Amino acid sequence: MEIVTSPREMQTKAEEFRRKKLSLGLVPTMGYFHEGHLSLIRRARADCDVVVVSLFVNPTQFGAGEDFERYPRDIERDERLATAEGVDVMFAPEATDMYAEGYTTYVDVERLTEVLCGARRPGHFRGVATVVAKLLNICRPEVAYFGRKDYQQAQVIKRLAADLNYGVKIEVLPIVREADGLAMSSRNSYLSPEERRQATCLYRALARAQALFAEGERRPAKFLDEMAAVAKAEPAAEIDYIEIVHPLELTPVPKVEAGSVAALAAFINKTRLIDNTIIGEEDLKVGARPC
Ligand code: PAJ
Repeated sequence: MEIVTSPREMQTKAEEFRRKKLSLGLVPTMGYFHEGHLSLIRRARADCDVVVVSLFVNPTQFGAGEDFERYPRDIERDERLATAEGVDVMFAPEATDMYAEGYTTYVDVERLTEVLCGARRPGHFRGVATVVAKLLNICRPEVAYFGRKDYQQAQVIKRLAADLNYGVKIEVLPIVREADGLAMSSRNSYLSPEERRQATCLYRALARAQALFAEGERRPAKFLDEMAAVAKAEPAAEIDYIEIVHPLELTPVPKVEAGSVAALAAFINKTRLIDNTIIGEEDLKVGARPC
């Protein structure tokens, strides 16, 4: 596996792949790989001639007082894992190269970014959209891979790719979970054993929503109440939001339907976690094997 740090060099390399008519799959990440990341890499490896994984803890998507400085990093381990998965190029630029002195251009996706996490983390999606736009320009992939764990992020990126005529296919892949249902996340490493135990309440709240739907319940307020009750039962958990939204608009639904998305964010003490499920389309059972 080749490691490239210079954006210019990465761009030249991507242009060469293009000239040779090799399909390029890009997996954007902030590193500290877990099975969620690896599932995207494996899919890219299966689909494309060349797999590029970007590893960049993007400062512009972190707000003041968020965890940019302490975000977990282990580039050597990530290199080993990426090599084992057959990644061709790891693109790991420095922040000073991605945002050189005088940098002033940002990408703002309207509407979709004004709800859910966007409403609670001002500027977050502007940072995400900007860095993803830059990565697409640098790597010019045929396909870019994202996880549904970050449901809103995936919708924002689909919008960005369509609106700015990138001509890239955006693939959104399922959520990879731990055996007890907790969605895998680099931020899970912040949790103490006791917090880790309580953190399953996000998954359990989503499982409750799926169960309610299976029982025939359709009133959003009932879903929100019951999901909140599950989350609130854990003393370390503080709900940031719980919503049932339209899968494309991300606005609250008047009636829960198959395909509506239950999304939530909660703090487990200081650690903010997010999760979601597509109502009626997933079988979430407490204690289930990874799904
Ligand atoms: P990061 O959190 O490292 O995630 C990289 C990709 O892995 C994202 O597309 C994310 O949705 C996906 N992912 C994370 N956890 C997952 C899980 N449990 N199951 C499936 N996929 C999962 O998301 C980012 O980085 C950044 O915002 C980025 C898009 C790289 C822009 O900086």
